[in-house]
Amino acid sequence: MTKRDFVSVEDWSDAEIDALLALATRIKAGEVLGGLERKVMAMVFMDPSLRTRTSFETAMFLHGGHAVVLEPGKSSWTLETEPGAVMDGATVEHIQDAARVLGRYADAVGIRSFPRGTDWSAVREDRIVRDFARFCEKPVINLESSRRHPCQQLADALTLREKLGQPEGKRFVLMWSWHPKALPTAVPASAALAAAHQGMEIVIARPDGYELDPEDTGLIRRIAQERGGEFVHIINDPDEAVVGADVVYVKSWGSLRHFGQAEAESAFRSGLRDWRLTAARLRSTRQGKGLVMHCLPVRRNVEIDDAVLDGPSSVVVDEAENRLHVQRALLLELLGRGSA
Ligand code: CP
Repeated sequence: MTKRDFVSVEDWSDAEIDALLALATRIKAGEVLGGLERKVMAMVFMDPSLRTRTSFETAMFLHGGHAVVLEPGKSSWTLETEPGAVMDGATVEHIQDAARVLGRYADAVGIRSFPRGTDWSAVREDRIVRDFARFCEKPVINLESSRRHPCQQLADALTLREKLGQPEGKRFVLMWSWHPKALPTAVPASAALAAAHQGMEIVIARPDGYELDPEDTGLIRRIAQERGGEFVHIINDPDEAVVGADVVYVKSWGSLRHFGQAEAESAFRSGLRDWRLTAARLRSTRQGKGLVMHCLPVRRNVEIDDAVLDGPSSVVVDEAENRLHVQRALLLELLGRGSA
């Protein structure tokens, strides 16, 4: 029997993703109960979380199952991720052994591992989550890796459908924002892919030097076009970018030109603090009512102003809630009655 992983939305067919979103809608309406009795999910958090951890623990509980959370370096052993490492340093257990063992205890295993190191050409292979899936005999769920946050992508897709009715052809602006730290590109790439899958018109607004990985940009363009949408263009101006937007998805990410070099990246982004979603910019969106999305956590009055986040256009809390519903659907698909 072959197992099914959820490492990237693009590993699944459009029909499978549409079915997951339809199931999530039924779950949200209270139409689906149980289905995960005596099932266990183990989650390895190599980086912190509020939403991902809580929503998966809640999802397992709601359907009769159980979740176990491991935090390497805190309550569980530090994990080595380098293949072939001579482990005479600080790390105690190799991730390939952890993956094998957790696969014997649990029915699904999730892993969160943000980018590490200074070599984007290596990190962009997303090897940690893919190796973990290779060594684990049970379905592996990506809880955010170097390249993708597929559970966030599902929640964003559901939110776009709920809020826009028919997202096709509507304008989605992915807007870079300043942030005190260089953040990963997994969420912005995944969010734009969610909009592309919905056939939206995609605009990416970011300063020069903040290009996404070209493979991601190419994929966003291709999927948007295949789904009847359009990849409009890349804009280096936050005022111009938001004009006529139906959705502004605000997100910060680090310059890949300075990947893993915190000081150089910090200097590179100095002078870009004006990249922030303000009430004035929101007024330039379509009829001044463009939706505001963000995966959270958000730095208030740094990425998005209070007046915007607390105003009627903001759907960030609904978006976070949808994490729970799409993940319930995903778990039922991977582990529930009727799954392989
Ligand atoms: N959006 C998201 O993944 O939130 P957490 O980092 O809190 O899990």
